[in-house]
Amino acid sequence: MTNSGAPRSWGLTEDQVRIQSKARELANEVIGPRAAEVDRTEQYPWPNVEALTEAGFTGMTVPKSLGGPGHSFLDAVLVVEEMAKVCGVTGRIAVECNMGAISAVLAYGTAAQQKLAAGFVLEGDKPAICITEPGAGSAASEMTTRADRKGQGYVLNGMKHWITGGGVSRLHLIFARVFDQDGTEEGIGGFLAVRDETPGLSFGRREPTMGLRGIPEVEVIMQDMAVGPHMVLLPPSGFKRGFADLMNAYNSQRVGAGTVALGLAAGAYELALKFVKERHQFGRPIAEFQGLQWMLADMSVQLEAARSLTYRAAQSRGEGGSPFPDAALAAQAKIFTSEASIRVVSDALQMFGAAGYSRRNPLERMYRDVRMFTIGGGTAQILRTVVASRILEMKLPQRRNS
Ligand code: FAD
Ligand code: COA
Repeated sequence: MTNSGAPRSWGLTEDQVRIQSKARELANEVIGPRAAEVDRTEQYPWPNVEALTEAGFTGMTVPKSLGGPGHSFLDAVLVVEEMAKVCGVTGRIAVECNMGAISAVLAYGTAAQQKLAAGFVLEGDKPAICITEPGAGSAASEMTTRADRKGQGYVLNGMKHWITGGGVSRLHLIFARVFDQDGTEEGIGGFLAVRDETPGLSFGRREPTMGLRGIPEVEVIMQDMAVGPHMVLLPPSGFKRGFADLMNAYNSQRVGAGTVALGLAAGAYELALKFVKERHQFGRPIAEFQGLQWMLADMSVQLEAARSLTYRAAQSRGEGGSPFPDAALAAQAKIFTSEASIRVVSDALQMFGAAGYSRRNPLERMYRDVRMFTIGGGTAQILRTVVASRILEMKLPQRRNS
């Protein structure tokens, strides 16, 4: 009987089942045993990065022409799910080594930019994607970081915050408002910057986060940061529609974020399933109580639904010729999966009684970790607006007087 992980009947190919088994083995034998330590020390898990890289689980989506294996998004999702079952932090690293900024560069970048970014992710160096600012969170298009044209290149000034891996990552993809030589605004563009090689790029305060503590969330500061023309990521329709194009690329990261939540929930469910058979009260295994049986049944329903939505969103990449997953499917998957996963992890913790509330138990960490996913990468509220706008085929401006 299959109780977790995608069953063959889901439609995985032989190759995908093989990738999934290899990822599960690595997760159980290497990544899982280190997860508590990563959480406790709040150190970026370089040994896990090395293990992912050696297994070929970074740069999976890089095409063969750039030296990658050219795997599908679903292949990468299977790996992310297995990592997140045992360690949310490693799941997130697997996301950013396969989706997000790398998807944008592979789709929109020049040959040289693609080569540069592919090299980083194939070596396990996850790029950071820098969108959010203190005054522009959900209202991302209100960013104030500016890129002023200077000769052939640009000079950037501004500050981003809550940037995952900022200061650890080498490659940064920074969204900025673009101005031409006369100071006329042109739209929004992407700018690539490599840590330690870009004067004017620095890192500020690290957030003391509730969970996912092994990855720094930091301020990224651009102070008269010069970007040469070779590092400007020009969206296909130019800066005018640059924001829409860059957010389109970002749909890949939304699928990845949903997958980490899914993995955390699947891992929690597996722990609960084992525990209820072992723990006895009233002279019988607690699995014999209908109150818990129905909770488990509901958890399994939510997991299967979340998995189906997530895999479907991953598979939508390529449909209609788009290099990214569909915006509505990605948002639907992330809304449902992030919310369901919080419930599943919370119910798993409940089944452990007091033991679930102890820091000795992985569920305490998983509960903190999973709480993030209705927030980062587009909140559950904002994503509902994205879905509504697409199903109604209406623009739904949120701005007063717009
Ligand atoms: P706000 O936009 O201030 O929202 C506050 C509340 O109001 C939320 O509940 C929101 O849903 C609600 N709200 C706002 N507008 C509306 C509306 N129109 N309708 C209904 N409700 C609304 N950003 C990056 O650029 N790069 C990263 O790598 C990155 N990593 C992150 C990692 C973590 C762990 C976290 C927590 C965040 C990360 N972020 C990152 C930032 C994240 O994307 C933002 O937190 C998110 O977009 C929300 O912005 P905000 O926090 O400013 O909330
Ligand atoms: N995929 C494809 N296109 C997208 C998109 C997405 N996920 N999000 C926005 N767009 C397009 C819109 O369709 C619109 O195109 P149009 O002009 O052809 O209609 C354009 O981008 C502007 O979007 P709009 O909704 O008008 O922008 P807005 O200023 O009202 O802002 C968002 C809304 C997009 C900023 C908001 O929905 C959002 O996603 N906020 C969360 C930011 C986020 O996820 N940050 C994560 C950082 S890690």
